[in-house]
Amino acid sequence: MSTILVTGGAGFIGSNFVRMVLTEQTDCIVVNLDSLTYAGNLENLEGFVDHPNHHFEKGDICDGPLVEKIIDDYSVEAIVNFAAESHVDRSIVDPGIFIQTNVAGTLTLLKAALDKNIKRFIQVSTDEVYGSLGEQGMFTENSRLSPNSPYSASKASADHLVAAFGHTWGLDYNITRCSNNYGQYQFPEKMIPLMINNARNGKALPVYGDGLYVRDWLYVYDHCTAIWKVLRQGKRGHTYNIGGNNEKTNLEVIGLILEKLGKSTDLITFVKDRPGHDRRYAIDSTKAMTELDWKPSVTFEEGIAITIDWYMQNTEWLDHIVSGQYEKYYESMYKDR
Ligand code: NAD
Ligand code: DAU
Repeated sequence: MSTILVTGGAGFIGSNFVRMVLTEQTDCIVVNLDSLTYAGNLENLEGFVDHPNHHFEKGDICDGPLVEKIIDDYSVEAIVNFAAESHVDRSIVDPGIFIQTNVAGTLTLLKAALDKNIKRFIQVSTDEVYGSLGEQGMFTENSRLSPNSPYSASKASADHLVAAFGHTWGLDYNITRCSNNYGQYQFPEKMIPLMINNARNGKALPVYGDGLYVRDWLYVYDHCTAIWKVLRQGKRGHTYNIGGNNEKTNLEVIGLILEKLGKSTDLITFVKDRPGHDRRYAIDSTKAMTELDWKPSVTFEEGIAITIDWYMQNTEWLDHIVSGQYEKYYESMYKDR
């Protein structure tokens, strides 16, 4: 048996990771620390909250004594840090909480990991730390960090702290940098679930700028399998890029969603662009594929079909998520666009 502390395990990727581990790794105990912000929801773990190998702890990664107590109480061996403020648009409106959670929170976890002799620390980072690409090329692990948004700047700061703890005190760590994820349980502030939700309700689809921004989409389950491989086989102190090799413009993705839902392209509405909007991301995952023998399990066409079906079969989840605060968020984020 091994015991891992997963932070942010009630969010989108974290909950998919927890579900995957509990299903596929019967010898692993998962302690899930999540403060349940607007993005964290135990409904994302339906059917798994009471799993005998799952222990949920509601709390903040910035709370050092709590993190240390959890490590002691459960004899935690490794930490996988998903907990973060994750939405670029929110970071443009209110960057402070991004520094608090993504930078100070990671520092708190790192200090606890060092004090408690944690065997491995996995920092779940993002391709956005590399900045934006022109028409050609891909990000490799050697690309320069050049973050453009408060969100990506906070994630890059955290990456530097993780590496500094490895360099200075010998912490055994890995950093993973992944491209855009899509799939089940993603909060509908992000482009794909937001467009699915609006389309199903016959609401306008707010496309930023010219809609020709490019993202490299990866099915969330495939991100989770990569993180598991890094945890088990990653070389000490190494960074691994994880991507889907699925570059699509936003308009291509939105067109596919409308087609699958049988809705008209008339719903597409071009709105004011995101300030500082990164034009293109593309990830070179050669290192993860060759060193860890990882590869995505589905193509984008397969993954997006599964995803759209899931949202349409889980409208109760969706309706619950978009009730209350979400209405207020949507109103304030989109009113001046
Ligand atoms: P999310 O916003 O869906 O979930 C974040 C989770 O962290 C939530 O459950 C929230 O309650 C929790 N959390 C926030 N602040 C916390 C705190 N102070 N203490 C404890 N828990 C806290 O995010 P996501 O999309 O699942 O992303 C997870 C991680 O993966 C993030 O670190 C993000 O930067 C990274 N990432 C995301 C993507 C993507 O496409 N979504 C791609 C690459 C990397
Ligand atoms: O690349 C990895 C990153 O992907 C993660 O680190 C972030 O946590 C995650 O949120 C995501 O960031 P993006 O900004 O790329 O994702 P988002 O879904 O917000 O936007 C995807 C694209 O769609 C982007 O070009 C902006 C555009 N967009 C987004 C929204 C919400 C729109 O055109 N309209 C919208 O309403």
